[in-house]
Amino acid sequence: MSLVLLSLAALCWGAVPPEPTIQCGSEPGVSPEWMVRHTLTPGDLRDLQVEPIKSSVALEDYSILMNISWILRADASIRLLKATKICVTGKSHFQSYSCVRCNYTEAFQTQTRPSGGKWTFSYIGFPVELNTVYFIGAHNIPNANMNEDGPSMAVNFTSPGCLDHIMKYKKRCIEAGSLWDPNITACKKNETTVEVNFTTSPFGNRYMAFIQNTTVIGISYVSEKELTRTSVVVQVTGESEGAVVQLIPYFPTCGNDCIRRRGTVGLCPQMGVPFPQDHSRSVLSGWLPLLLLALLVATWALVVGIYLTWRHEKITKTSFSTTTLLSPIKVLVVYPSEICFHHTVCYFTEFLQNHCRSEVILEKWQKKKVAEMGPVQWLTTQKKAADKVIFLLSNHNTKCDGTCGKSEGSSCENSQDLFSLAFNLFCSDLRSQTHLHKYMVVYFRETDTKDDYSALSVCPTYRLTKDAKAFCTELLHAKPGESVGRRLHACHYSCSSL
Ligand SMILES: *[C@@H]1O[C@H](CO)[C@@H](O)[C@H](O)[C@H]1NC(C)=O
Ligand SMILES: *[C@@H]1O[C@H](CO)[C@@H](O)[C@H](O)[C@H]1NC(C)=O
Ligand SMILES: *[C@@H]1O[C@H](CO)[C@@H](O)[C@H](O)[C@H]1NC(C)=O
Ligand SMILES: *[C@@H]1O[C@H](CO)[C@@H](O)[C@H](O)[C@H]1NC(C)=O
Ligand SMILES: *[C@@H]1O[C@H](CO)[C@@H](O)[C@H](O)[C@H]1NC(C)=O
Ligand SMILES: *[C@@H]1O[C@H](CO)[C@@H](O)[C@H](O)[C@H]1NC(C)=O
Repeated sequence: MSLVLLSLAALCWGAVPPEPTIQCGSEPGVSPEWMVRHTLTPGDLRDLQVEPIKSSVALEDYSILMNISWILRADASIRLLKATKICVTGKSHFQSYSCVRCNYTEAFQTQTRPSGGKWTFSYIGFPVELNTVYFIGAHNIPNANMNEDGPSMAVNFTSPGCLDHIMKYKKRCIEAGSLWDPNITACKKNETTVEVNFTTSPFGNRYMAFIQNTTVIGISYVSEKELTRTSVVVQVTGESEGAVVQLIPYFPTCGNDCIRRRGTVGLCPQMGVPFPQDHSRSVLSGWLPLLLLALLVATWALVVGIYLTWRHEKITKTSFSTTTLLSPIKVLVVYPSEICFHHTVCYFTEFLQNHCRSEVILEKWQKKKVAEMGPVQWLTTQKKAADKVIFLLSNHNTKCDGTCGKSEGSSCENSQDLFSLAFNLFCSDLRSQTHLHKYMVVYFRETDTKDDYSALSVCPTYRLTKDAKAFCTELLHAKPGESVGRRLHACHYSCSSL
């Protein structure tokens, strides 16, 4: 009996040939089948599809691959089909081109799968870069003879950027903060302050928080080295409830172009809501011990508070006496209009004031004076008064964007005029060794030498993200320390009141 079953099984096994699968390998050049003439060739593909997938074997930057799938046409020509060749052309900064050939392991005996349904295959390969247009072409082999139009199928695929749910796993995206979850919470404390809490990122320690409803109504800078939940209070100049809070991080790899996060400003939970009166009598006995405890805690907190205030005063007094010994360096900053004022100029100013003991002169803060004196006179006067003149340049990525443009309006054009004017006005100084020491060029990121201002190349040049310390040292050499100085908070005020 079992023998009969066994032989039946063997018969069945023999009758059903193994299903074709694919074996793929790179084939950059023409297929050998091109060289021979074929009287009969298979038809083209029925469908071709591409989707990006996250590879399970994460090989650094090749973590995102294409899943290319295709469906074979169910007709008699399928018996001739030996292989399918897929070529991918990528177009972004540079062009890439590569091909794979997928051989079918068996000849096709049926037009559809024995289980029903069309023959479908998929190949996983071809690394996907960010924001790239790909042309994916596929044709069957043996292909049509030379000088005949071979059937082939092509699709386009444009890879998304770092915000995509799959692309965010690319190394470059991760370094720009794609996996960072700041979990922003923000609430309106009162008419003039908003409290913003967020979790910092391991990739950087500088952040800027904007509050905006239609225009920017408040701005604050955060420096936090530790990976922690941090809290910042932003002074606002308008109605903040329901406004948008935008968090701009500065990470070394992406500078001003890191992924920004948003949240909404709600209302802070009210503190010290009074207890309902009518309940108090019946539950008073229950609350009494708690009240006593609270009283005790409050007294203790008061004592600690007084002690801390006393100590803090002592500390601030000591640190103040050291900072007052040195006078600030007067710095005139000129910048072209395409620089975003909030992102770049304000940030730079803040840096100069807080880290380089500088007093900053900006055209933007002296608009009235510029109008009165005329730009040439103003520039000449400020140049004389300043210890240093800094040309602040930025690479093309940090142009005025929406956030900036709205609050800036037409002021961009004015600054443009002023920058060219300053450049032309101070140009003669750049050729003289005695005056040259007064000028510096600061780039926010890469030093892409702009031909328009090639005369600036003689000035000491710094990249703020890299040479911040050297820059500061050089700046402070401008003037030896003298007596009586003061700390300036001008930028903070001017930026938030825009
Ligand atoms: C596919 O078949 C061709 C021709 O028979 C052969 O040259 C090639 O090495 C095969 N490729 C793979 C990946 O098996
Ligand atoms: C690739 O795409 C095909 C067709 O959509 C699908 O069946 C297959 O599961 C995908 N492979 C992976 C690894 O996602
Ligand atoms: C792919 O895109 C290019 C240009 O963007 C277009 O010319 C071409 O027709 C598209 N091809 C397909 C198959 O959609
Ligand atoms: C975000 O923060 C809130 C309040 O601090 C917390 O309750 C919530 O669990 C956090 N969510 C995540 C995803 O960390
Ligand atoms: C921010 O954090 C502080 C301290 O943890 C907390 O008291 C406050 O309620 C938080 N505010 C928001 C808006 O989440
Ligand atoms: C934005 O702020 C202005 C000025 O305070 C206010 O009049 C306006 O209602 C606010 N807009 C929104 C959408 O909250």
